[in-house]
Amino acid sequence: MDRVTCPVLGARRTSAAEAAALIRPDDVVGISGFTGAGFPKAVPGALARRIREAHERGEEFRIGLWSGASTGPEVDGALAQVDGVNRRLPYNSDPNLRRLINDGTVDYVDVHLSHAAQQAWFGFYGPLDVAVVEVAAILPNGLLVPGTSLGNNKTWLELADRVVLEVNHWLPRDLEGFHDVYYGTARPPHRIPIQLTHPLQRIGDPYLRVDPAKVVAVVETDAPDRNTPLTPPDGASRAMAEQLVDFLRHEVRAGRLPPGLLPLQSGVGNVANAVMEGLRDAEFEHLTAYTEVIQDGLLDLLDAGRVTSVSATSFGLSPAGQQRFLDNVGSYKGRILLRSQEISNHPELVRRLGVIAINGMLEADIYGNVNSTHVMGSAMMNGIGGSGDFARNAYLNFFVSPSTAKGGAISAIVPMVSHVDHTEHDVQVLVTEQGLADLRGLSPSDRADRVIASCAHPDFRERLRDYVDRARAERPHARHTPHLLAEALGWHRRYLEDGAM
Ligand code: COA
Repeated sequence: MDRVTCPVLGARRTSAAEAAALIRPDDVVGISGFTGAGFPKAVPGALARRIREAHERGEEFRIGLWSGASTGPEVDGALAQVDGVNRRLPYNSDPNLRRLINDGTVDYVDVHLSHAAQQAWFGFYGPLDVAVVEVAAILPNGLLVPGTSLGNNKTWLELADRVVLEVNHWLPRDLEGFHDVYYGTARPPHRIPIQLTHPLQRIGDPYLRVDPAKVVAVVETDAPDRNTPLTPPDGASRAMAEQLVDFLRHEVRAGRLPPGLLPLQSGVGNVANAVMEGLRDAEFEHLTAYTEVIQDGLLDLLDAGRVTSVSATSFGLSPAGQQRFLDNVGSYKGRILLRSQEISNHPELVRRLGVIAINGMLEADIYGNVNSTHVMGSAMMNGIGGSGDFARNAYLNFFVSPSTAKGGAISAIVPMVSHVDHTEHDVQVLVTEQGLADLRGLSPSDRADRVIASCAHPDFRERLRDYVDRARAERPHARHTPHLLAEALGWHRRYLEDGAM
């Protein structure tokens, strides 16, 4: 079936290599993609080959790369392997690119995912030269049927001087109708309230717009999205999920949550997926989700009828989940809406809807500060992603992690986090496989007692208790947040010297 039915844009059909030849050294390229969904499948690979050949000839060739969030190995991995990226924003989880970020080769701009689009149009990052965006089809009037993620596509199409469209025949044509692209955002002081009061409410258009005059190439592809398979939840993930679900029950009984809860947001990863599995077996009905990524666990909840409506910006499905979705696309229409990430993660909407936010962390300190991004304070893991957008504005937020990392060598509960992404003023509930610490309404000193008792691994509990006791004793006039600063920082040094990292 012809997916490019617009005569004007149909005439711009070309090969991936010819499209990649239109990208110049030092261009800033905005690509589609959010997790392994919706990234362009052909042009980045062709560009990587072009960059490698240029380097072999001794020519400089690197690009600035903007996306929605992480992409597939065909983008970040391929470009990292040829040392083709000089600056990357707003999120990465590719191990090859992570290595270049951490050895200082690539400048990484790690920003809240809801900020990336607006800060790009405010001009904070400089001009965007090229957009490379995957779509499911181009309609006769030139409107674009989006693919499996929306991310920042709207903004890249608006801002870029030149546009390359990849039309992927692997995407179900039935994706038409799954999207809601909001075109009402304006710059301050001309902003108006975003009139959204339910996760499934439509406030925009089903299609992306592009100025046909800017489209320099249309490339047809036929390649799948690429998300890594999820491992079945282990004991620790299940323990965390059970405690979290029990806590939600407790909140319903206390009258602080309605019986159908409030819209759920869950970060990507196995723990988040385990929580969704836990909810499938729980008694809650008529659940909704206002989240970033639809993982398999959320699809299960939709299939089981537990969740009735889902708003997200991307499908982050495993190969098995992807197949299940493709086999039953029609049955999900009207129950799932994909939005641009500036809307899926919008602080105004997260706060209005009263989202319950569940995100992973690397470490938390006894006072409730959370580090989601920096291993031992310096090395980037992935990035803050949407965790800050949701956590700060949520009705209720959870941060979850096993109580130890690296086979038990490192405690995820420390006296002072080595980097702060979420401050003690934002963080409400910490969960490890050891237990759950509800920090709401507690002073820092009370938080310390609760976090150590409930969340720390027994191997580290005494040492943490001893730290707080001595801090209280040695700083009698500074007991609000008792710290022994040199020792708190030494906590991480000990791991480094032990060779745990
Ligand atoms: N110190 C050092 N390393 C640590 C650590 C710590 N305190 N805690 C975890 N790690 C390491 C793990 O050992 C693992 O390393 P490996 O891949 O070499 O085995 C890695 O970090 C990932 O940890 P894991 O326990 O598998 O957790 P995860 O897959 O749930 O990821 C985050 C946890 C924090 C990395 C992840 O949630 C993240 O990137 N969060 C930030 C973005 C975000 O929240 N996005 C969702 C918003 S919608």
